[in-house]
Amino acid sequence: MEIYLLAGITCLIAGTNGVDRDFPPIITKPIVSQTIYEQDGAEVILACEAHANPSAEYEWKWNGYKIADNEHIEEDSNSGELRIKSLTRREIGDFQCYAYNRIGGKIIKAASAIITVEVAFLNPWDNDPAQRISVKEGEPVKLTCDDAPSRNPPGQFKWYRGDEDGGEVIQDTRIAIDAEGSLHFAYALKADDLAGQEYKCAIFNRELNFIKLGSGKILDVTELSPLPDRKPNVVYYKETQKALVGYDVDIECVFSGNPLATISWKDKDQQEIPSSGRDRYEFIEESHRILRINKVVETDEGPYTCSGTNKVGSDDRSTFLNVTSRPIWVKALSTLTIVEKRTAPMMCKTRPSAREGPNSPPEWFENGEPISQVKVNSGKYVFEDNGQILNVTNLVKPDDITCYQCKVTNSEGSTFGSGCLDVIEPIEIIRHPEETQVIMKGDIIDLTFIAESDPAWTLQYKWYFNDEEYQDRPPFVTYNETANTAYINTESLTDEEYGQILGVYTREIFHLHERKNISTTVQEKDKEEFVRGSSPFNWWNLLYILLALVILAIIAIIIYCCCCGKTDYNVDEKEKGLWNEPKQELKYYEFPDLPQAEINGVEPKRQPLQLTEDPVNFEDDESLNEYGDGEDIGKFNEDGSFIGVYMDQGKTEPPPAYQTQSKV
Ligand SMILES: *[C@@H]1O[C@H](CO)[C@@H](O)[C@H](O)[C@H]1NC(C)=O
Ligand SMILES: *[C@@H]1O[C@H](CO)[C@@H](O)[C@H](O)[C@H]1NC(C)=O
Ligand SMILES: *[C@@H]1O[C@H](CO)[C@@H](O)[C@H](O)[C@H]1NC(C)=O
Repeated sequence: MEIYLLAGITCLIAGTNGVDRDFPPIITKPIVSQTIYEQDGAEVILACEAHANPSAEYEWKWNGYKIADNEHIEEDSNSGELRIKSLTRREIGDFQCYAYNRIGGKIIKAASAIITVEVAFLNPWDNDPAQRISVKEGEPVKLTCDDAPSRNPPGQFKWYRGDEDGGEVIQDTRIAIDAEGSLHFAYALKADDLAGQEYKCAIFNRELNFIKLGSGKILDVTELSPLPDRKPNVVYYKETQKALVGYDVDIECVFSGNPLATISWKDKDQQEIPSSGRDRYEFIEESHRILRINKVVETDEGPYTCSGTNKVGSDDRSTFLNVTSRPIWVKALSTLTIVEKRTAPMMCKTRPSAREGPNSPPEWFENGEPISQVKVNSGKYVFEDNGQILNVTNLVKPDDITCYQCKVTNSEGSTFGSGCLDVIEPIEIIRHPEETQVIMKGDIIDLTFIAESDPAWTLQYKWYFNDEEYQDRPPFVTYNETANTAYINTESLTDEEYGQILGVYTREIFHLHERKNISTTVQEKDKEEFVRGSSPFNWWNLLYILLALVILAIIAIIIYCCCCGKTDYNVDEKEKGLWNEPKQELKYYEFPDLPQAEINGVEPKRQPLQLTEDPVNFEDDESLNEYGDGEDIGKFNEDGSFIGVYMDQGKTEPPPAYQTQSKV
């Protein structure tokens, strides 16, 4: 009932949330940057979608430019779809969608995440003659994958015996393929000798579902019995492994040795990683030569150590994991709804990952175009925090409804943000009771608060009485649904009830984007009779001022009397003139009536001297120091009286009035 009643008027104006309200585009697709690989000749379709009212139209940018009349790329401004008819290297690059609509006669554009389109390819190998490698049984073997062809993306290394039909070399605890494609045998066996047939390196391209073989190697193994024991050696590792925040990374150590080395790992804190893994640490194959760290975080940076041990000996290495990232969002640019006349802080706050170089300051755009310098110069746009905050001041609807984009770059790449600014009308109180209602028993207390707001947002209300929240309404409040009013009729209250209704009634009026409090204070008449119309607060202030004036007057009289009585020191024109030639004049004045505190112990603050018509001039101590250019000297006489002197150093204007105020 409450909401119905007091929001009734507003509801009529407001309609329902969101419906028929103009708002800038909010892109729903694509929202994550990604790279897609497609085959040469493939048809590529990129979709773009946004919520907007009026509904959005779309345009794409390709490597930052509009795609004008391109016979190979089509875009549909209504559906948002972009179509590359037949992908070649000519059409690769960064594609970004802009969704736009018109609000207040102006085009407003929001930008999507960037999709990078690449052609997947895998060139053939050169047919170099196979290399021959000869070892004795028990020796370690490394077959390198040489002259790998150019390709995109990098693909996956595999090895085959003979050709594709000869069968893939399956990795196990003795046989490993490292990240650079080399095939390792921890120790060779006669069975690894293919009797003149080649081992062939292969690259598998998942996007093309294509595999190509090359780099043949012939392995000759001389039989030896028994196999000699060999201590483990690290035959593959990297000194530094780079990792991107949020992605998985593999750290790899390949060991030779017979018997096979038992591999163990220590993390960057020198803690042993259990063989079953721990937290985000995981071993992805049986021998544990690869340590996988899932979803890398910045604190994962540091050295990771692998050790391989067998009965003959051991070996170890450390790989430094360098965790990097493109600029990381601290506060991403996002859509804001702000009430008129206020300032909208559009935030584009990023940081580099730990121990990395700084990010560039953000580049800002409005509706896809560089930000207007005119608005910066006029103070409409105010940058803060190294350009990471764009403050849009003194908001006006609909002129300031618009979209912004920002781009921040570092050594690893760039991060792009997009967010729109929606400006709404403030909550306006169209009816409220007087600030103070002074009542007598029998009066009616008016508690009718009515507000309206931007049509888009339905208002909600809350009651507080003397800072206590009331779900429905404070005690004794009546609603009149016909008249749309709220009141307390004190006539019908008992004396006890009447005693409970005095105080502050507050109505909190709010919606998602704004909150306002408005109050009325109810006081009883007889107690406030003599200050009717002014609040007790004002009355007390008045009292204080009067009191202060009286005290001042008394002090002035006392001091005046003392001065006259003792020194009767009057200033004449000659003395005033002394200060016009300060360099020549060094004059002592006696001030016999200093307050006790200055005489006893505490050396008075250095104070410039001047004789004025006014015997007393109260100022605070701080203001004295403003005149501190001159050198002041002061000392006490034997009888305790103070001698002060002002020695001006080249200052032409006379020093200010002398102070007699006590510092205690
Ligand atoms: C990590 O790599 C980045 C970029 O390659 C480099 O700038 C940075 O100095 C490296 N950090 C460390 C700690 O080696
Ligand atoms: C309104 O007043 C209540 C009670 O004093 C308080 O809890 C609330 O935070 C206030 N709201 C605003 C917007 O000031
Ligand atoms: C409500 O207000 C209407 C119009 O002012 C008035 O006629 C009616 O008597 C009121 N109802 C009550 C219950 O006070």
